[in-house]
Amino acid sequence: MNSTDRQTLRRRFLTVAAMVPAGLGLSFGRAAAQQAMVPTASDMEGPYYIANTPIVANLNRFGKPGETMRIVGQVMNAADPEKPVPGARLELWQTDGQGRYHPQTKGNYSDFRDDEIDLRGTVITDHAGRFDVMSLFPKEYWPRPPHIHYWIRAEGFRPLVTQHYLDTRPSNRPHRTARVIRDQSPAVYPAPTFYIQPG
Ligand SMILES: [Fe+2]
Repeated sequence: MNSTDRQTLRRRFLTVAAMVPAGLGLSFGRAAAQQAMVPTASDMEGPYYIANTPIVANLNRFGKPGETMRIVGQVMNAADPEKPVPGARLELWQTDGQGRYHPQTKGNYSDFRDDEIDLRGTVITDHAGRFDVMSLFPKEYWPRPPHIHYWIRAEGFRPLVTQHYLDTRPSNRPHRTARVIRDQSPAVYPAPTFYIQPG
C-alpha cells in the first residue's frame, strides 16, 4: 500500500467514524477519538443567539409541528481525546419546521416572554460527556442547509461557538455533518463529537 492509498483509507475511516452516534459503538468510538486530535472548528454565531436559555429536555418547548428528532452527542477534551468533558454546558438553537427562529432576533432570555423562546435551550453533559435532547428536524433557510447552532462552555476550556449540518450531500466537511437516522423512532441525529480545547 502506498502513502496515497493510506491517506485515502484514513480519510474514509475518519468520514465513517465521524458519523457514528455517541454511545452506539464504544470500541469504534474510542478508535475514532484517538484519531481526531484536531479541535472542532468554530463557526459564525449568526444573528439569532439568545443568551441564558433554560435547561431543557426538549428544545421544542411548545410542541411546534415538524419531524420529531432526538439529538445525541458528546463533548471531549481535544488535548486528550480519550477524556470526556462532563458538566459542559451546551446552548443550542435552530429553526422550526418552517425555517424560522423563535424569536427571529438576538438578545437575552429575560428580554422575552417565556413562550417566545422556542427551538432553543441549554443542556448539560453527563459523566461521559454525553448529551441527549429532543427536538425536531430544522428546515433549511436560503442559502443555508439545515443546521443546528451550538455555544459550548466548560470550566477550564475555551468557549466554542459552532454549527452542525444535517443531511447535507455530499459534504467536504464530514467532521461536522451527519445524517439523521430515520429507521429509529424517534429519528436520531448523531451530532459529530465536539473536541474542545483547554484554556
Ligand atoms: Fe442559523
